[in-house]
Amino acid sequence: MARRHLLSIGDLSRSEFDLLLNNAEALLEISSRQLKKVPALRGKTVINLFLQPSTRTRTSFEIAAKRLSADAVTILEGTSSLTEGETLLDTAMTLEAMAPDVLVVRHSQSGVPHLLAKHLADTSVVNAGDGDHEHPVQAILDCLTLKRRFGSNVSGLTLAIVGDVRHSRIARSTLKAHALLGNKIRLVGPPALVSKTFLGPELRDVEVHHDLEAGVEGADVVMCLRLSQQAKEQHIGGTYVRNFRVEEEVLRKAAPNSVVLHAGPVTRGVEITSEVVDGPRSLIRDQVRSGVAVGMSVLLSVITSSQAEVEQ
Ligand code: CP
Repeated sequence: MARRHLLSIGDLSRSEFDLLLNNAEALLEISSRQLKKVPALRGKTVINLFLQPSTRTRTSFEIAAKRLSADAVTILEGTSSLTEGETLLDTAMTLEAMAPDVLVVRHSQSGVPHLLAKHLADTSVVNAGDGDHEHPVQAILDCLTLKRRFGSNVSGLTLAIVGDVRHSRIARSTLKAHALLGNKIRLVGPPALVSKTFLGPELRDVEVHHDLEAGVEGADVVMCLRLSQQAKEQHIGGTYVRNFRVEEEVLRKAAPNSVVLHAGPVTRGVEITSEVVDGPRSLIRDQVRSGVAVGMSVLLSVITSSQAEVEQ
């Protein structure tokens, strides 16, 4: 990949996407070794700047950096000088002065990783989730999870994305990823949360269903989204649970070998039942396993591209 930053799935060509995915698949093996460490990024430094809560992504990047022998530092909002009034750009410039190689950024506002990438001359930026905009790493790790289940044939699948598309950065990155892979996408949920008008014009080649059974019928993959705080504040929760919670019974309408994804954090009993979370179709733990390998693949890729730029 000839990119110093990973900001959006929309920036990637099919071959760049495949490279990240295939490298991640090869790197999975490292996490099952007795000694889970290789020297690939020895002497490199990764800073995780997580200004919004995270369990999976933050920990995955920290572990990914350490498994590649990079030094990893994590900064959280509550413990940073942002709480003392320092601007985000000043914080980023301060961190860059310590010569990190990569800044992995999560922020509640869309566009923050792009802004930092524009201002940082010597540091790669990875978008670990920005506002409602994108979560490219999640889309790649979900595709790796599907690749592990369906084999090399991640194309030709029908994917039903159920839930709060309106407020979901994961939905936006997922739509772009599966458009690259040539998969068929259905968006499923109530009109207040699911409508083509919530998507950019380039993402509107999808089916929209406001009926759960019709939306999941014959689907190979049912991806549940988390119900956002914004949706809960609109008092959508009660009717949502009655009409769109993914339960074992409705999954009988899906394809016989269908699988269920949920990026987490899961609110059991709201968007999905515990029976499904812990059931045989669930790939939720596999998604987390894929996350470390994708973190490794992304770090290797942006650092290698950055080095290539310097050498040119
Ligand atoms: N999937 C995901 O982004 O989870 P975290 O918020 O825990 O990182």
